[in-house]
Amino acid sequence: MRISSKIAKAINDQIAYEASATHAYVAIGSWCERTGYDGSAAFFFEQANEENTHLLKFTHYLNNGGAEAIIPATEKPQGKFNSLESTFQVGLKSEQTVTKLINNLVEVAEREKDRATYSFLQWFVTEQIEEETLFETILQKFEVVGRDKLAIYQIDQSLASIRSEIMTKRVNQQQP
Ligand SMILES: [Fe+2]
Ligand SMILES: [Fe+2]
Repeated sequence: MRISSKIAKAINDQIAYEASATHAYVAIGSWCERTGYDGSAAFFFEQANEENTHLLKFTHYLNNGGAEAIIPATEKPQGKFNSLESTFQVGLKSEQTVTKLINNLVEVAEREKDRATYSFLQWFVTEQIEEETLFETILQKFEVVGRDKLAIYQIDQSLASIRSEIMTKRVNQQQP
């Protein structure tokens, strides 16, 4: 077995968090959908899909490395929110937690001298920078556009396409 039991345990803990994050974002999207924030609902459902993709990446990595991925039960996520802005604060907090967890995983891989896992984790290190930037950019909009009904409506409308907007901007910034 290429993957040690220590690494397998650490990655299975991460799988559990990715599963919780998937359901947490579905729950937020569902609240947005019920509340009339259609752009944000689309955003959070897509965010849930991404977390599920992370869960699968870790699952394949364990199973293909001779270990066993353990798919966990998850606790009921938060289903009620005070405002649209607070849903993005919850999202940012969760992403900051994931960043810490990924950094801890990288440290475990370093300690175990597991170069393959270390290299596999680099994708997630970069991904977390993007995730935090995404949520910070959205939260900034409330400062800039405002928090009255029209402002929130405009922010919500912009969220359906924000992912591609931010990605395009970043790709352009990377070009010389
Ligand atoms: Fe994730
Ligand atoms: Fe994420």
